[in-house]
Amino acid sequence: MTRQNITVRSLHEMKSAGEKISVLTSYDAGFTRLIEEAGIEVLLVGDSLGMVVQGQESTLPVTLDEMVYHTRNVARARESALLVADMPFMSYRSPALALESAGRLMKEGGAQMVKLEGGSVQLETVRRLSSQGIPVCGHLGLLPQSVHKLGGYRVLGREQGDASRIREDARLLQEAGADLLVLECVPGQLAAQITRELSVPVIGIGAGAACDGQVLVLYDMLGMNPHPPRFVKNFLASGRTIQEALRAYVEAVKGGEFPAGEHSFK
Ligand code: KIV
Repeated sequence: MTRQNITVRSLHEMKSAGEKISVLTSYDAGFTRLIEEAGIEVLLVGDSLGMVVQGQESTLPVTLDEMVYHTRNVARARESALLVADMPFMSYRSPALALESAGRLMKEGGAQMVKLEGGSVQLETVRRLSSQGIPVCGHLGLLPQSVHKLGGYRVLGREQGDASRIREDARLLQEAGADLLVLECVPGQLAAQITRELSVPVIGIGAGAACDGQVLVLYDMLGMNPHPPRFVKNFLASGRTIQEALRAYVEAVKGGEFPAGEHSFK
């Protein structure tokens, strides 16, 4: 049976109806076909591809050309899931450059939304993209493109000052026109509060069960990361096929069984 296209509007309706949103990263056509079959709502061409596909130490070396290439491959196999593409490091360092980069991801790659990292510093950029009809997904908490500034991959928002800043940034991003927000590695309580306060859907990764939806890196949930972060669950364990693992992930997210307490932070 063919599914109706998932749009920004349907994601907002899902939030209002309390229906959980399942999101997975994808980087090629083959996996995208399987992920679509599993019934995922959002495909994210994450710049995590720098680490899991290219074997880099961080996401920083990923280029806009590479993001366009992978987005195009995913777009060829996309059927009804919403296709979000990451803006790579330095491709949105000014609003004008962000417009150029997002334009390429949409025109050449077939992306339907772009994702960028950061809060108050990105407001003008989000306003510019949004005013040109480009849907934007914000990304707060742990910002992998700022790993060197942060001094490593760690939980953000445990201290009062950080928590208040993340909360305020979330509100400001929504006000600037963001349509979706990813919260990465923040305490579950903070993510729950932000999820309640925003009208746009909040997608968590290491942000507890109260978010409107969940995202994982595909290779992590298939058990391909030898040192998985605490928030990852290997859905390919217990002798499942890849298709079964993908279906189990979607079911667990939609049924509220993933993430469990052991995948969340206090
Ligand atoms: O690049 C990526 O895969 C991401 C997810 C971890 C949210 O940004």
